[in-house]
Amino acid sequence: MKNESGASVPFWVKDVSFMDTHKLNDNITCDVCVVGGGIAGLTTAYLLAKEGKRVVLLEAKAIGGGETGRTTAHLSNALDDRYSNLINLFGKDGARLACISHARAIDMIEQIAKDEKIDCDFQRLNGYLFVNNREQDTELMKELEAIQQIGWRDVVMRKECPVATLTASPCLQFPDQGRFHVMKYMAGLLKAFVDKGGQVYTDTKAVDFKTGTVNTVVTEDGHTVASNHLVVATNTPVNDMVTMHTKQAPYRTYVVGLAVPKGVVPDALYWDMDDSYHYIRLQKAEERGAATDLLIVGGEDHKTGQDHQPDKHYYALERWARLKFPMAEEVEFRWSGQVFEPVDRLAFIGRNPGDSPNVYIATGDSGHGMTHATIAGMLLTDLIMNRKNEWEKIYDPARISLKSAGEFLKENLNVAAQMKDYVTPGEVDDPSEVMPGTGRLMRKGTTKVAVYCDADGVRHECSAVCTHLGCIVSWNNVEKSWDCPCHGSRFDPYGRVITGPAVKNLDKA
Ligand code: FES
Repeated sequence: MKNESGASVPFWVKDVSFMDTHKLNDNITCDVCVVGGGIAGLTTAYLLAKEGKRVVLLEAKAIGGGETGRTTAHLSNALDDRYSNLINLFGKDGARLACISHARAIDMIEQIAKDEKIDCDFQRLNGYLFVNNREQDTELMKELEAIQQIGWRDVVMRKECPVATLTASPCLQFPDQGRFHVMKYMAGLLKAFVDKGGQVYTDTKAVDFKTGTVNTVVTEDGHTVASNHLVVATNTPVNDMVTMHTKQAPYRTYVVGLAVPKGVVPDALYWDMDDSYHYIRLQKAEERGAATDLLIVGGEDHKTGQDHQPDKHYYALERWARLKFPMAEEVEFRWSGQVFEPVDRLAFIGRNPGDSPNVYIATGDSGHGMTHATIAGMLLTDLIMNRKNEWEKIYDPARISLKSAGEFLKENLNVAAQMKDYVTPGEVDDPSEVMPGTGRLMRKGTTKVAVYCDADGVRHECSAVCTHLGCIVSWNNVEKSWDCPCHGSRFDPYGRVITGPAVKNLDKA
């Protein structure tokens, strides 16, 4: 499924209607202003409204219209960064807290769905971590040992995987994981937030942040929201130019949804140990009103803006899925999303470093966006309500770990290497070489121009220089967007911002 510009639309989005919301057209005040209408922002807004705070939520697009709608909604505390690594980075106590926090996040989603009567297909189920080759056996054993060291006793090694075609080797079974329909949940959560007195404004882009005792957010239309506390829960912070963007890196990830005969694949979460790894779940036939179950398979991650043939990842994913699930039928959906990988693996949730103490951020989903977002809701609510929270330290955005210095250096050298694009030739010499529905870079003197040719053959040009920190954007033919290879800003074919950290559209050529 695709939208009018040719970008993919995940199946979550197609049949959920949200309550009516509109643009901010006034200057207003509140206790807490939350910027970002994804699951992190909305959960935080809801929990604070429940505490009696006057909360205003601002979203640049529609609720859940960013990366939240592009998740595959695994709810898991079987962390993909591996407990063996987390023990090394945060110690046994830190890794245990990370494990508990994600488990509590699944509990919280279940509780909210129950309290607010949100019918969102929430299911508790097992998760299985499996190997694809003999070399990964040792790693699997090491992970089980790490899990036992942090005191998680009910993870067990099973001799056989419930899906025999996935692997012939033993696998780890994680109890009490979960899955849900994220957009049904978001629609219910939005209603619950508004019922508790919350105010929500969509199509309202925050472009400037003046922080201090009172924080003022300025919108694109020049309206303001003044608040005692400010939470910025955009996928990556749009209120910070540099600091946080050196501590995390953007990756694209791909998803295919294939029909499988009803009831043939046991309902569970499955992950392998490849790098990048594959992640698999089901949406049951009755939940989607179809005759077949939907097998949702994700993976094939790569750095944003650094792969010029993104289409091939769908084919690779489909090939892999058919090999592992020979019963798979036709591909019904394809979409891609963006994840931010923190250099030391855990999200950044808490006070914004170097800012006023009443300004908070939530970012760095690390492939566990649903649980990290819900942790953000719980942790930020405690901070704003002046309550102690034992997770504060491990998620502190200001943390620095010498043990992650290698990863920090690797990602930032990669960003520096993107400056080569200033001296390389253009992909075309003339706009007429750009085919309908595609985009290409063209050299113009010392700089580059992003040329897009629409379906009618009309060429549109804008500067290819990203308005965040000046890297050269690259065409993403899968999502029909200009993607920045440095910190993950994305722009539509005409240069309008889709995703930060950039807040300004690409300049006119
Ligand atoms: Fe930072 Fe483009 S996102 S330079």
